[in-house]
Amino acid sequence: RIAQRALCLDDFETMSRRHLPRPIFGYVAGATERNAALADSARAFTEYGFVPRVLRDVSQRSTKATIFNREWAAPFGIAPMGLSALAAYRGDIVLTEGAKAANIPMILSGSSLIRMEEVIAANPDTWFQAYLPGDATRVEALVDRVAAAGFGTLLLTVDTAVLPNRENNVRNGFSTPLRPSLRLALDGITHPMWSINTFLKTWRLHGMPHFENSFAERGAPILASNVLRDFTARDHLNWEHLALIRRRWPGWLIVKGVMHPEDAARAAAEGADGVIVSNHGGRQLDGTSAPLRVLPEIKAAAPNITVMLDGGIRRGTDVMKALALGADFVFVGRPMLHAAAVAGREGVDRAISLLLGELERNMALLGVNSLAELTPECLIRVGGP
Ligand code: FNR
Repeated sequence: RIAQRALCLDDFETMSRRHLPRPIFGYVAGATERNAALADSARAFTEYGFVPRVLRDVSQRSTKATIFNREWAAPFGIAPMGLSALAAYRGDIVLTEGAKAANIPMILSGSSLIRMEEVIAANPDTWFQAYLPGDATRVEALVDRVAAAGFGTLLLTVDTAVLPNRENNVRNGFSTPLRPSLRLALDGITHPMWSINTFLKTWRLHGMPHFENSFAERGAPILASNVLRDFTARDHLNWEHLALIRRRWPGWLIVKGVMHPEDAARAAAEGADGVIVSNHGGRQLDGTSAPLRVLPEIKAAAPNITVMLDGGIRRGTDVMKALALGADFVFVGRPMLHAAAVAGREGVDRAISLLLGELERNMALLGVNSLAELTPECLIRVGGP
């Protein structure tokens, strides 16, 4: 079985590099400009070392985490990733089914290619991430559609005021929609597993993929060109829009992409139930600090809401460091999509169980029984400025 060959999350990226056509691999794995934000997100974890405690009975250890009044099997979930169904056949469904089986949360991206109503049917605990145009009527219509579909948790991603400079997409010939070219055709031929199991199967069974949820007040497929126009209108978004959503949305509300303590405090004051400290996996403003570096101050500035983090989580020890520095929960992006791309549902199951296994084992080696025992005292700074 292909999935069993992966021994850690990074192995899925190595496998996916061979499996996916170059433009699609580049879209998933890449970032912006110099990839400095991406690199820093991973590096920050290496700047802390554990100080293990010994001779403590760790036989009762548990990885269970409760957020928003619900208990999950682990303190990690799957981050929202747009266009997942280009990399993996029915990507969003596969990811959310894997999350459901493991009892962890999965967040559906607003720029996914599968209708939100289908995804929530596969897993009623799926969360929804929205991109919004700066237009009040459409914001309200979107919130109503998400509520009617049955989602209980809504995220607003706020670090995307304009489209980022993804040079790698241009260099690799990635665009939405994918433009036919000789290069793309050759890429398809040299990556036959993806061409047959993802591309042709999608085309044959579901037709041409469309954005089904972007700015999704319309419940109908949206052409990529219209989505791009909506993206451009997004530079109007401001705190008033958050207040508007809070008045209309009855469920849990999370702001994703917060990096400054004052913004976290403002989100809390506007009635958000949580924030995700995130630099969008290094895919927006290049040179943004690693989320881990700003986490402690954000936790201090917003002590009464749920503080989550994503970016660069690849190991159980990364999850532990983020929790020790103040995160209540974390999310994992790219590795989950690479796993779904190379091995479908089995890949997702394997990725989740590898991460959970590492977390469980390394909690014991650190000498803790519960996530609550992960505190700053478990760590020392070992490098960096
Ligand atoms: C993303 N991310 C993202 N975030 C979001 O709020 N909406 C989206 O549609 C997307 N789309 C998306 C696509 C792909 C291919 C990737 C890799 C990422 C960002 C994502 O939710 C998350 O913040 C980062 O991926 C976390 O970093 P790691 O775990 O990938 O390092």
